[in-house]
Amino acid sequence: METPKQTSTKEAPPISKCLFPAAGYGTRFLPATKATPKEMLPILTKPLIQYGVEEAMGSGIHTMAIVTGRGKRAIEDHFDISYELEHQIWGTPKEKQLADIRHIIDCCTFSYTRQKEMKGLGHAILTGETLIGNEPFAVILADDLCTHDGNGVIKQMIEVYREYRCSIVAIEEVPKEQTGKYGIVKCELIAGHDDIYRVSDMVEKPDPQDAPSNLAIIGRYILTPDIFEILKNTKPGKGGEIQITDALLAQAKKGNVIAYRFKGKRFDCGSIDGFVEATNYFYQK
Ligand code: G1P
Repeated sequence: METPKQTSTKEAPPISKCLFPAAGYGTRFLPATKATPKEMLPILTKPLIQYGVEEAMGSGIHTMAIVTGRGKRAIEDHFDISYELEHQIWGTPKEKQLADIRHIIDCCTFSYTRQKEMKGLGHAILTGETLIGNEPFAVILADDLCTHDGNGVIKQMIEVYREYRCSIVAIEEVPKEQTGKYGIVKCELIAGHDDIYRVSDMVEKPDPQDAPSNLAIIGRYILTPDIFEILKNTKPGKGGEIQITDALLAQAKKGNVIAYRFKGKRFDCGSIDGFVEATNYFYQK
């Protein structure tokens, strides 16, 4: 296997866009998600996707590319001005409750495309190609809610990307019996680091006995744009879906995927337990 390159002295292309796959049905939260996108479920007063957008902004990204589906219009409305509401509360103490979202709307551009069929995360990312174009980009899965005391996870990953200039996945250790919920990587620490690994293999949701490790990919990626061509040629994998893990494996075989053990805490807000845990955590804060 080739070693990931820390190529030339030229600056790495900047990461200026963040893709949010947000087309899934959120069946685990039915009936709440019958008419409300799961990304709009709030942890306290803020919808999940807003936490993700704020994390992207914290890394200097201001262009948000959102892959939606049927029944997701509330996301577009959330990141838009609500004249009537704002007029109503203008000059009242309630006004400040809209300050954060107003700041986001002022600073960021949002673009949307629809995934017509649910064919997996890889397919959702490929659907976003039209919004991303030919440049490296970040991906945030909003139901993995990440917190941090210092830099956000995407900001940490962009720093790693600048050094290695290849795709980066964020990983964390999970109990071995949970490997079937995640993409699992086989990787080796890079000399001189204790949190940066070179990936040699990756498997989508393996049974514990087949898992190459207990290092799980969480919903944060930096992807180089060649991933789109790879995805176009990626056959359906686990669950009959086009998996980003399988496409990344093609890059990993060339030594072009780094796994980064991020600093911070992740809540799996795609599960009821994780959602409650996140709610309690932010409430205590
Ligand atoms: C997706 C990916 C998986 C990754 C996970 C992180 O799975 O396919 O590799 O570990 O996100 O949350 P999903 O949770 O969408 O089933």
